[in-house]
Amino acid sequence: MTTVGFLGVGGLAGLMLRGLQGAPYRFLLSPRGAEAAARLSADFGYEIAASNQDLVDRSDAIFVALPAATGAEDLSRLTFRPGQPVLSAMAGTGLARLAEVIGPAKAAIAMMPGYANAYRVGPSILHPQDDFWHAFLAHVGPIHVLDTEAQFTAAATFGALSGASVWWMAHLADWFAAKGLPPETARALVAGTLRGNAEVLLQEDRPLADIAKGVTTPGGITLQLLDFLNGKGALNAWHDGLDAVLKRISA
Ligand SMILES: NC(=O)c1ccc[n+]([C@@H]2O[C@H](COP(=O)([O-])OP(=O)(O)OC[C@H]3O[C@@H](n4cnc5c(N)ncnc54)[C@H](OP(=O)(O)O)[C@@H]3O)[C@@H](O)[C@H]2O)c1
Repeated sequence: MTTVGFLGVGGLAGLMLRGLQGAPYRFLLSPRGAEAAARLSADFGYEIAASNQDLVDRSDAIFVALPAATGAEDLSRLTFRPGQPVLSAMAGTGLARLAEVIGPAKAAIAMMPGYANAYRVGPSILHPQDDFWHAFLAHVGPIHVLDTEAQFTAAATFGALSGASVWWMAHLADWFAAKGLPPETARALVAGTLRGNAEVLLQEDRPLADIAKGVTTPGGITLQLLDFLNGKGALNAWHDGLDAVLKRISA
């Protein structure tokens, strides 16, 4: 069975490994972050490598979830085999930088939401197309392959959108709860509304603008809320925020 080494066993690795349960791989975990690695090892029986280099030596392929700020430097201290597939999910590490630090190995980059991947519904982006990593990521949600790195980097801002959307949903649920709804009803109402509308976008074969028009009664409450939000610059603020994130991860 193919062995996939997880370099960096923190939040993302734990979520991915949850989603990957039952997938046809053997997993090997890096030793640092000992508590999380030990928990995963106890929960799922995954083996812990003796060192990062031991992990690289014993893995057919390596999934990198090291801290974004220091991960590339950490990789540069390891020796990889020619053609060994290495997929980095580190925000802000581009393909050229990854290829530079892993030497003869085969670089690919990805981004995913994390939590939703534990439930196998989180979309991943991948660059460039790579059959091994495409099959691997397909176990935890749908995949979008981006042809150019510029497209990938722009798309990778969705990692921030994903996390921020959870805060947005929590904020909305708080409003409904403050109006007297039971918190679990507020939470289910917000999440169910967004999931329902997301399903419409995924399933309807109509332009987005038509769908948006279709849910907006002239003079109705949707328009009232939209006009209010636009008056505050709230929708444009999402674009401005994504621009700022893109600038940071493009650096
Ligand atoms: N969280 C997400 O949902 C998510 C989604 C997409 C992408 N990402 C990306 O995934 C990466 C990890 O994020 P995270 O949220 O999982 O961070 P995290 O929870 O801080 O996990 C990082 C792990 O890497 C370990 N580590 C640090 N230096 C190491 C080294 N030299 N060798 C081996 N392990 C080392 C840390 O151990 P210590 O605790 O001992 O320092 C920690 O366990 C980031 O680059 C982030 O951009 C995260």
